[in-house]
Amino acid sequence: MIAPGKIPDKHLVAIADGNSRHREQLSSTLQSYYSVHTYGDSTNALMGLGVSPPGLVIVGEYVPPSSGVNFIRAMRFERELGQTPVVFISDNGDPDVLAAALTAGATDCIIKPYRRSALLSVISAQINIKVEKSWKELPSLARDALQDTLTLFGSIADIFDQSYPIQYGAVAESCASVVDAVTTGVFPAILEGVRDHDHVTFVHSLRAATLLALFGYSIGLPRSQQILLACGGLLHDVGKLAIRHSVLNKTENLTEDEKQMIRDHVGLGVSFLRTASDMPKGVLTIAGQHHERLDGSGYPLALVANQQNELSRMSAVVDVFTAMTDPRMYKPRYRAEEAFKIMSGDMAAQIDQELVARFREIYLDTMPEVTAKGA
Ligand SMILES: [Fe+2]
Ligand SMILES: [Fe+2]
Repeated sequence: MIAPGKIPDKHLVAIADGNSRHREQLSSTLQSYYSVHTYGDSTNALMGLGVSPPGLVIVGEYVPPSSGVNFIRAMRFERELGQTPVVFISDNGDPDVLAAALTAGATDCIIKPYRRSALLSVISAQINIKVEKSWKELPSLARDALQDTLTLFGSIADIFDQSYPIQYGAVAESCASVVDAVTTGVFPAILEGVRDHDHVTFVHSLRAATLLALFGYSIGLPRSQQILLACGGLLHDVGKLAIRHSVLNKTENLTEDEKQMIRDHVGLGVSFLRTASDMPKGVLTIAGQHHERLDGSGYPLALVANQQNELSRMSAVVDVFTAMTDPRMYKPRYRAEEAFKIMSGDMAAQIDQELVARFREIYLDTMPEVTAKGA
């Protein structure tokens, strides 16, 4: 049940598989992350896919009355399904069947028995390939910002895993693209372009980077400060890259240990950012203090109002707004006006109300067309 004012944002994934047990297992695995339509035979599947075109189709080895490979061939004859990513699930990894599936138009294959996490990362990667291809249609400055930050985010994930020091220069360079998109007014295309991407932390971080840069630009801060704000936004949750996907995206209530794991992203992120000797203090403040609250109820330091500077307060405002309006895969998001209402209602004692009012004015003034769609 979706609460009023919230918008569901899950990608639609379709399953065509004659094996009812596997079809149901798959469906329950995927339902936390995606909307799922299931089909047990080829005729119903082709009809259903035509009516509700999915972001991706999973095809089993048998789709009655014929094979999964033949079903993929039939799918590729349908104009609107010609480019839809298809993941073929093979029962036993027969190389001839796998080759036939790829020739018929499968974009990736998985062999039983498979790990749930492996399937989820294949689905995610396929959805992202499609989303990233769609960026070609965007204005060039918005496309550069999306591509530059995505490449940087991927490299950060790698160096985070391997404990190498991060290079601030590379971050600032990719965030200059975000600032260029903000100052030329094409930034709504960044928010639109990243909206359907399936990397939750990247989506949130790039949205925060764009909105922090917009905040800085609109209140007249110099370009160097806008870049610092964008870098802070892009890196503020970098510690989340160390948290397991299953905890980060858990739909049920978190245990106390899992809540602590999530809170630890702040300390982990700051330690990682300190590996760059030239990391600006402002970026460390944003990463370290975006969960602090004026009434002392935040974490990790429970700072109170007079211990939080302007940057700390701005990052809290933008982080809260971004998190509430993010197109998360596992829960509905809030419309912009609904988020602002909560920020100046229930959260009034926690975040700076003067900054909330200024940010609200900037957001609604600069993005009417995005706001109308609830972003
Ligand atoms: Fe955070
Ligand atoms: Fe955040």
